[in-house]
Amino acid sequence: METRVTLKGRSLLTLTDLSDMEFSYILDLAEQLKRKKKSGVRGHLLDGKNIALIFEKSSTRTRCAFVVAASDEGATAEYLGVNDIHFGKKETVADTARVLGRFFDGIAFRGFKQETVSQLAARSGIPVWNALTDDWHPTQVFADLMTVKERFGRLSGLTFVYVGDGRNNMVNSLMFGCSRSGMRFVNCTPKELAPSSELVEQARLQARFGGTVEVIHDPRRAVDGAHVLYTDVWVSMGEETKFAERVKLLKAYQVNQALLEATGRVKSGDLLFLHCLPAYHDDKTEVTATSGALEVSDEVFEGPFSRVFDQAENRMHTIKAIMVATLTSEGGVS
Ligand code: CP
Ligand code: NVA
Repeated sequence: METRVTLKGRSLLTLTDLSDMEFSYILDLAEQLKRKKKSGVRGHLLDGKNIALIFEKSSTRTRCAFVVAASDEGATAEYLGVNDIHFGKKETVADTARVLGRFFDGIAFRGFKQETVSQLAARSGIPVWNALTDDWHPTQVFADLMTVKERFGRLSGLTFVYVGDGRNNMVNSLMFGCSRSGMRFVNCTPKELAPSSELVEQARLQARFGGTVEVIHDPRRAVDGAHVLYTDVWVSMGEETKFAERVKLLKAYQVNQALLEATGRVKSGDLLFLHCLPAYHDDKTEVTATSGALEVSDEVFEGPFSRVFDQAENRMHTIKAIMVATLTSEGGVS
């Protein structure tokens, strides 16, 4: 029997908010919207909608993805840096939420506490999308999975290895997103940065289609057989004081040519390198606060297995899908 999937009016705060059908519906819709944009068709799915973007932390991709995706389908987006508005200073989060709920159709929030985005959703009365908090980065995972699917034609049965800080917003989200898509997910991280056993257990309980979750500390053993190697910055936004400590803990976890070789898939070419970006990869860049590449070598970042810019582009198509799915009656059939 066919089931109609609709997410109209819903928020996206973590990946656990979505059922299996809703999850795959967003991915399918993103594929459709990407084809539509590539074929030059201008959309009207979000005509007349207004989107607020409240950002407490910096952003290149996520901010631009919301703005361009909104414009592509007829909506407008207003950027509200926290220093531009009264949010959380002269006015409580709950009051700001209730005001913005009267003006806008949806709110994207990027910031520190997960509690803030939950409060916005609870008090605004409109869909709220988590554009990254200290704990989760759910919209990124859709772009990551879309890129994997474009490369391998499937998700189920693949081995996805994340190498780096084992308890940041990115790995938390990937742990759920990959295992519920039927992948073998490996969180490769030092003991000191291992995820809590409760979170790992929760991800295992939500795994589907044969998906699994493992935590492995030895990088060479962890990447053996990987189809996808993924890394993220070693120090997330808001943790800048931990820089020296993290470099010390993670320097053996850099994704470089030797680690790529350890997958055993370089010869067959059955390998993909992904990074949510921004990345410290270039020995010559002046933005790296230390000399040299950190989480990924320049050779890997610029090499034949890297699709990090396709992945960045897919942020826009997937964020568009999330907005269309939650703001309109556009629905899928499963
Ligand atoms: N990947 C990602 O969220 O990038 P930005 O910080 O540039 O938005
Ligand atoms: N873990 C990173 C992700 C950036 C997209 C951070 O929070 O800074």
